Amino acid sequence: MENKIKLLSEQIERFVIEGKDSLENFRIQFLGSKNVLKDLFIEIKNVPAENRKSVGQLINALKNKAQDKFDIANSKTEEAEETNSNIDLSLSGDFNKLGSRHPLSIVNQQIIEIFSKIGFNVSEGPEVEDDWHNFTALNMQEEHPARDMQDTFFIEKNPDWLLRTHTSSVQVRVMEGAELPIRTITPGRVYRNEAISARAHCFFHQVEGVYIDKKVSFADLRQTIEYFAKEMFGESAKIRLRPSYFPFTEPSAEVDVSCSLCSTKGCNVCKYTGWLEILGCGMIDPNVLKNAGIDPEEYSGFAFGMGIERMAMLKYEVKDLRMWSENDVRFLDQFKSAW
Ligand code: PHE
Repeated sequence: MENKIKLLSEQIERFVIEGKDSLENFRIQFLGSKNVLKDLFIEIKNVPAENRKSVGQLINALKNKAQDKFDIANSKTEEAEETNSNIDLSLSGDFNKLGSRHPLSIVNQQIIEIFSKIGFNVSEGPEVEDDWHNFTALNMQEEHPARDMQDTFFIEKNPDWLLRTHTSSVQVRVMEGAELPIRTITPGRVYRNEAISARAHCFFHQVEGVYIDKKVSFADLRQTIEYFAKEMFGESAKIRLRPSYFPFTEPSAEVDVSCSLCSTKGCNVCKYTGWLEILGCGMIDPNVLKNAGIDPEEYSGFAFGMGIERMAMLKYEVKDLRMWSENDVRFLDQFKSAW
């Protein structure tokens, strides 16, 4: 009996455990439900009573020896498995990707803030507009040639409906309902039936501004635009007004801001003119005031309209209009720190 124990003890010692399979073989042989040590416990009956205790202890020690060897080998194989798997512990952590505001939203918000500092609130109007608000009330009757300037998308089912071609339609809507004086800006999307290119798009964004009160003058308009240009493009920004034509303002002007890149010396951004066009504006035509139920004898006002894409292009020096709506994250990611 003692010999058998010694033999098994040697077997346990010599058993080479390498990898999962041999570990499992070892377990079955020495610890499993039909293990070889079990026979010893049965045979113990045949051992003379006075030796039974010591033999029993030897068998128990043998059992512990097998268990210990198994435990050690088992934890080693588990460790090895972990290091063999594809986990690269030296890799840096997986960060949550932070989104960023769209550059047009950033510029839009900036324009809103600049005007809110001088008392302008924000108004909105519908993108699907009727002919009256987009054209007729703005002094563009049915046969008016200026209608052709704005390649309009009409709604087929009802030709009186269209996608607004400018935010000036909201001018009329705020005038119709509001109490005077009015001091508001109206940001929003507008649509024109243009072939998409680097310089034109079938939709873009504008911000319209309207100020109506008693005795509003062209000087107020000029001052407001100058204030805006300095806030938007820096204290050294200068503006110049060029006479222009819009059916709903009289007199009308287009406004240029001095090119901040070359300080009016001329560069390829301002096409060597030193100036960049930023908006259209003018005194609201008395007829338009009348159309909205405001007495032009008592009240006067100015309006201006600017393109948000244009403003963002100047600010960020982006040369292709299509970039704003392609949603290429490599482009958008660059505006992370902008706000
Ligand atoms: N609605 C004009 C445009 O889209 C801009 C404008 C607005 C001009 C208000 C004068 C006054 O070009």
